[in-house]
Amino acid sequence: MGLAVDLDPESGGVGPGGLGGLSGLGGGGHVAISRVFAASLAAPYGEATGAPRGGQSASGGDGRLRILRSRPLQDLFAMARPSTALIDLAAIGKNFERARRMAEGRDVIAVIKADAYGHGAVAVASALARRGCNRFAVLSVEEMVVLRDAGIEAPVLVLAGLLDAEDAHEIVRSRATAVLHHRGQIEWMGLATRGATRPVDVQLEVDTGMRRMGVAPAEAAPVFEALARRGTLRLQGVFTHFSRADEGDLDASRAQLEQFGVLLAKHAPEVAEVHVANSAGLLAAPRLPLMGTAVRPGLMLYGARPAPHLGAELSPALRFETAVIAVRAVGAGEPVGYGGTWRAPGAGYVATIGLGYADGLPRNLGGEGEVEVVGRRAPLVGRVSMDSAGVWLGAAAVPVGAPVCVFGSQGLRVEEVAERAGTISYELLVRVGDRVTRRYRDD
Ligand SMILES: Cc1ncc(COP(=O)(O)O)c(C=O)c1O
Repeated sequence: MGLAVDLDPESGGVGPGGLGGLSGLGGGGHVAISRVFAASLAAPYGEATGAPRGGQSASGGDGRLRILRSRPLQDLFAMARPSTALIDLAAIGKNFERARRMAEGRDVIAVIKADAYGHGAVAVASALARRGCNRFAVLSVEEMVVLRDAGIEAPVLVLAGLLDAEDAHEIVRSRATAVLHHRGQIEWMGLATRGATRPVDVQLEVDTGMRRMGVAPAEAAPVFEALARRGTLRLQGVFTHFSRADEGDLDASRAQLEQFGVLLAKHAPEVAEVHVANSAGLLAAPRLPLMGTAVRPGLMLYGARPAPHLGAELSPALRFETAVIAVRAVGAGEPVGYGGTWRAPGAGYVATIGLGYADGLPRNLGGEGEVEVVGRRAPLVGRVSMDSAGVWLGAAAVPVGAPVCVFGSQGLRVEEVAERAGTISYELLVRVGDRVTRRYRDD
């Protein structure tokens, strides 16, 4: 089988033919190739370097973004693992500005747990800090320590990671703020702050409907009292979490706010900080009242909508890309992939793309989903493998190395792909695997 590549920069496309057209180009020179393809190769993204993802830096050694301007043609044929997550820190900055405007003067606590929803917590926190965000929330002590090790000294709320007395010591050592959910944690924080000359701030989550974490309303009184007795701890904040703010009907969320208001008035009427709204809560305002002194958005910062009716103006921040690593000519009726579950509807080409379920492409998208190949939609066919997947090209072949967008382009948003995969964008974003190179750009 052979393929040809249309090297005319004006044509913007490729067509079937013979690969010989490329072989003569050789060397590492930059050549004119189709516009869509060239634009993708020349995208100005700096590459994250070897450190673990949580510790990635968005900048090069000289503190500036390294810009990848273009790539020699030969690289296209030597890409063993071509998958990248192109992360636009400026888009995250824009989304943060939107959140800040919507918060109407309240503090914005940027939720960057799970490695900033797969975007790289250190890179995201650094970019947001440059734009005036000075509050962050992570899940665990480990996630908090990653930020401190990277030199991020801003206040960090540890949402749910206080699991033992040692965690309490680490939180105090790192000057982070623990969120408490039960009396045992008050004891651990008490031990860790014994002899402290100034009270250490803590926050309390109260459960008004999520039934996941937080102090249950029926148990609130003894917990608030136990906290008040601990002279080394100061209850600086109280919050609750919406379970259904992404729905059209907001009655359940309003009921949560009402219950929260009653609990606050009873147990902590003078507390300094109060917050409720996640992304959906913030985007649903003013239909859902904003309550308290701060908000806690996560998903919207990364440009994904918590629900189709919320956040139309958000800018996607992560473009998940790979490349075609092989092209096969197939005849009508030929099976493709494990189990031969898909058969070619006619003679044409199947592209093998360079990522699979180990990289974050949901296995159930095989036969269900679509990707963009050189900017055009094409169906994923056959079963998704661990490291690769098949894409039906029909009669229009593309060269090995052709760019493939899995999600995050203008035309193929993560929300759509998540829906097709029967999941939510949160899950697709955090599933982008460790083998995928993160590249960053900023203004
Ligand atoms: C306690 C808490 N607050 C805020 C958030 C942010 O939520 P979202 O990403 O929906 O904005 C989360 C995320 O799950 C959370 O668990």
